[in-house]
Amino acid sequence: MKVRKAIIPAAGLGTRFMPVTKAMPKEMLPIVDKPTIQFIVEEAKKSGIEDILIVTGKNKRSIEDHFDSNPELEQNLQEKGKTGLLKMSQEITHLGINIYYTRQPYPAGLGDAIARGRSFIGDEPFVVMLGDDLMMDKVPLTKQLIDRYSETNASTIAVMPVPHKEVYKYGIIEPDSEIAPGLINVKSFVEKPEVDKAPSDYAIIGRYLLTPEIFPILAEQKPDKGGEIQLTDAIDTMNKTQRVLAHVFKGTRHDVGNKESYLETSIEYGLKHPETKDALRKYIIDLGKKLEEQN
Ligand code: G1P
Repeated sequence: MKVRKAIIPAAGLGTRFMPVTKAMPKEMLPIVDKPTIQFIVEEAKKSGIEDILIVTGKNKRSIEDHFDSNPELEQNLQEKGKTGLLKMSQEITHLGINIYYTRQPYPAGLGDAIARGRSFIGDEPFVVMLGDDLMMDKVPLTKQLIDRYSETNASTIAVMPVPHKEVYKYGIIEPDSEIAPGLINVKSFVEKPEVDKAPSDYAIIGRYLLTPEIFPILAEQKPDKGGEIQLTDAIDTMNKTQRVLAHVFKGTRHDVGNKESYLETSIEYGLKHPETKDALRKYIIDLGKKLEEQN
């Protein structure tokens, strides 16, 4: 069955970015000039997704406004002859993808956010795309998962090796055998294990292709110690009755979910952006020299 639908959870409180997230969604934080959530929606579009459900919460209205039209702004740009900016604004509204919204009333975990998409998804395979991970590769990672699914009909989770000392930040897989290059049978999935108990260094990285059988499992899933329903736990349960595979991502992952890597990502993009790349490059080289002199 064709994979047409995606769920993007965007209800998190973004406390790692306080105070900026007190009144604005972290998904609207820009990488140079584009909100992070737009990168995710563009990846969905490039992967052939037709319908997206964004699960939002309080203080998230500006996400809806961003993908809506802004007639006042567009009229102003038209009058001033700023046709490039006008086109940019209109393209965001007319991405050729349907965006729907629902709210998660309480921060009850990723599993709970995904469970809110049950009637939107119905009886189809779908993808989950987390906004903290920006993925770069020739073929978008979401499309890579869809291609795997079209060969295996199995739920498939994107993974990537991470430094061992960081495994406690991620869902981690216990790999079994490699059934095709870069495609792994999984024994178990464990959410945020302690470093010395992690079954491998392969981390779940924010793109999931799931069959709809995950929904009845999520509905029964007990919250973890922190009171959150974990998607990883539900995937582990599903893997006991229908296999869930892991696809190893070989491209570049930018984590925009914490301050340090957010700044690094902004610099990397700034070094590629046509309007900033030359001046930023010069600035970084000069700054590097200055910092070295201080040492
Ligand atoms: C979530 C998932 C985790 C996954 C991670 C990827 O955690 O629960 O399994 O490895 O995203 O970014 P979070 O970063 O929201 O705590």
